[in-house]
Amino acid sequence: MAINFNKAEFILSATVPAQFVHDGLPQVAFAGRSNVGKSSVINRVVNRKNFARVGASPGKTTQINYFKIDGRLYLVDLPGYGFARVNQAEKQRWGEMMDGYFQDSTLLKHVLLLVDIRHKPSANDKQMYDWICHNGYEPVIIATKLDKLKRSQVAKSLKEIRIGLGLPKEGKILPFSAETKQGRDEIWALIDELTGLAEPAATED
Ligand code: GTP
Ligand code: MG
Repeated sequence: MAINFNKAEFILSATVPAQFVHDGLPQVAFAGRSNVGKSSVINRVVNRKNFARVGASPGKTTQINYFKIDGRLYLVDLPGYGFARVNQAEKQRWGEMMDGYFQDSTLLKHVLLLVDIRHKPSANDKQMYDWICHNGYEPVIIATKLDKLKRSQVAKSLKEIRIGLGLPKEGKILPFSAETKQGRDEIWALIDELTGLAEPAATED
């Protein structure tokens, strides 16, 4: 049965790994540097303006926010990295949360890594990509803020992102704009595909 993305509820903000949700439902996690547009993508996916907080204060960067969709899966807003004004203790908390999340093999998760389509991936983006792969995941890349780039530059930028991250040939990149909603249908389809939830139920007869 198709996933109803309009049916979305905030569940909790985990600040320590003990609060992670382990209920057997699949989780689709959104990773990427602070300000790249993680919360904005989630808002668009669920068709709500201020659902996941946009432009959250740097103090919020160590939380992992869970949003339940249609009672069948979670969208997980991971804390952003690369925020300049974060002190050492906060960086360490961030690392512990991310390690805890990615190394917990009991979580059924899929990872989307967001990068800004206007820029070559930063050293932090590359490190994050490598680290996600190292943990056994194949992240799909969402190239955000598509509306801010001239159409003629899109193919070139996507290629630079692919090269910059070292994405394999079959690795997926989806361009997306929270402003124009371009790419939203593709993200819906991707979530359907990753979770397998939209498969027609087997008929009894
Ligand atoms: P943190 O929570 O700090 O990690 O940031 P985030 O990744 O959740 O980014 P957020 O969604 O809060 O977006 C950051 C800023 O970029 C906001 O001012 C958004 O309005 C803006 N923004 C996000 N996506 C887009 C987009 O597709 N187009 C444009 N023009 N602006 C965007
Ligand atoms: Mg956010």
